[in-house]
Amino acid sequence: MSETLENLLQETRQFPPPPELAASANVKEDAYAEADADRLAFWEKQARRLTWFKEWDQVLDWSNPPFAKWFIGGQLNIAYNCLDRHVEAGIGDRVAIHWEGEPGDTRTLTYSDLLTETKKAANALLELGVSEGDRVAIYMPMIPEAAVAMLACARIGATHSVVFGGFSVDALRGRIQDADAKLVITADGGYRRGAPSALKPTVDEAVADCPSVEKVLVVRRTGQDVAWSSKDVWWHDTVGNASGDHVAPALDSEHPLFILYTSGTTAKPKGILHTTGGYLTQASYTHWAVFDLKPESDVYWCTADIGWVTGHSYIVYGPLSNGATQVMYEGTPDTPHKGRFWELIEKYRVTILYTAPTAIRTFAKWGDDIPAQFDLSSLRLLGSVGEPINPEAWMWYREHIGGNRTPIVDTWWQTETGAIMISPLPGVTACKPGSAMRPLPGISAEVVNEEGKPTGGGYLALTQPWPSMLRTIWGDDDRFIETYWSRFREQGFYFAGDGAKRDEDGAVWLLGRVDDVMLVSGHNISTTEVESALVAHQAVAEAAVVGATDPTTGQAIVAFVILRGGADVSTNELRDHVAKTLGPICKPRQIQIVAELPKTRSGKIMRRLLRNIAEKKELGDTTTLQDATVMTLISEGMKTSTED
Ligand code: WT7
Repeated sequence: MSETLENLLQETRQFPPPPELAASANVKEDAYAEADADRLAFWEKQARRLTWFKEWDQVLDWSNPPFAKWFIGGQLNIAYNCLDRHVEAGIGDRVAIHWEGEPGDTRTLTYSDLLTETKKAANALLELGVSEGDRVAIYMPMIPEAAVAMLACARIGATHSVVFGGFSVDALRGRIQDADAKLVITADGGYRRGAPSALKPTVDEAVADCPSVEKVLVVRRTGQDVAWSSKDVWWHDTVGNASGDHVAPALDSEHPLFILYTSGTTAKPKGILHTTGGYLTQASYTHWAVFDLKPESDVYWCTADIGWVTGHSYIVYGPLSNGATQVMYEGTPDTPHKGRFWELIEKYRVTILYTAPTAIRTFAKWGDDIPAQFDLSSLRLLGSVGEPINPEAWMWYREHIGGNRTPIVDTWWQTETGAIMISPLPGVTACKPGSAMRPLPGISAEVVNEEGKPTGGGYLALTQPWPSMLRTIWGDDDRFIETYWSRFREQGFYFAGDGAKRDEDGAVWLLGRVDDVMLVSGHNISTTEVESALVAHQAVAEAAVVGATDPTTGQAIVAFVILRGGADVSTNELRDHVAKTLGPICKPRQIQIVAELPKTRSGKIMRRLLRNIAEKKELGDTTTLQDATVMTLISEGMKTSTED
């Protein structure tokens, strides 16, 4: 077996599901065998969890790869599946959203409330001239209207393109133009870090160069002053006065539901296109299966922003299609204090929490004593998404948030996959800290080498089409083929761009982006493994590792490390610790203690920028960076640090 990527970290801890959870789990062990026996029949069964206006004639059309079609001939309406059918089933009084504003104001929306709002918004969009197939850009804070806007688009068959509310004028303008959006839905602003943060001026500036935009629909959230043009209309006038009667039309299974742009570090963002029937089938099934959702009793909370795919699939479409009750929070985790998340969990008796490793490591850095002040005993299941979770961060999450009781589902997926692909099933899987474990039932993934052959350490490939797969890159089929389907053209596999290993039990360990892999004296070493070794040291809260050009070893490992509050340790001790854990080949040439790491707005470490610092190059493009001042601080520190 040829290894493309070294396998260095050995993890032997294992946590079987709690017996009560296993006994009553939505999905049991037999699901894997069922899906293996007949994958398409398995997905047909999951599609039947939804309400279709017309049943499909064919499950999958893969006659023209990589362009897939799922549930061909089927017709449904996503908003109907998320709202109307629950109200018709008599659960209209169930709370859909417990919304909490950052300043502490609250709103409670039942399924009936959400349905009425969505019907009114749908009618308002129609009155504003939006029709089936048009694109609508959504640039909103985390308020219920953001979900309503998405659902209203889905209801009338307009394709939404949500742009994260933290993005700049340039990013917004480029996305509006690429999709030729006819309408922009926004707000005056939202609350962030204790103050109103304006959105409308950014929209005004962007829209000035977007001739396709006919109207701008504005929610009043903060009440701050806004400039007003002839294109602008208030949500409370337009939606507020619209009729609450609207019958959801039947839309084709392959109708374009949304475009979501993935940042892409340097190149033009890619407009990932998702469609209707297959997308909702997998988003809905995975939300129910992976989170073991019991809609009558669970209170679910996904802390993502709706500007990311996690917000699309696991705040809006997955949970609402399943009739879940959820918490939605507007602000940041440190406002007005660093216990805000735990306070909300205590207040709403949250049972399922879904968050990101970057947040978990930040909470660990802030200190164990903060969550300890709150009653977190309602939690029964925890989830993680967005990056590899280091084993020690996983252990911290389990102990300090999950009270050593709750399973953790480490869910691997991408904007492109639309829904979760690799994850434990909480009632079945004995979880290993740091591993996403196995492809879900109905999903086929392999770890392969350059030749596309299964291997212990190499590239993650998806070997069969899946219902919620991206259909193309908006307006650029060639780039779609080139980016995802050319590396393993012969095999017909989807190339995910991630490194991974598979252990002797078949568990999958994600090892970071392939572009970040370091080549040290002929060994391919993953950034994730070295970072995990560093985070395993009790003094370290967070670490980012890069390969910098080195005259003797090709590349040498340079680490940037954030210490836990109050910790004191020498960089030499940390270098020795890594060498002891992973072997001398992995001993970092240099370790730099830093206060912050450069991250994207979705919390991913930008290793490219750190590599430039390590190689003392120009920084390059920092526009997608969350906080650009971080870089100056790190490079200043680098100049004064002593290399040993
Ligand atoms: C990339 C996709 C999926 C929603 C949020 C991110 C990394 C994501 C995991 C995980 C290891 C993960 C991968 C992937 N990633 N989840 N559980 N373990 N890595 O969506 O912005 O499209 O990013 O995030 O590198 O390719 P995205």
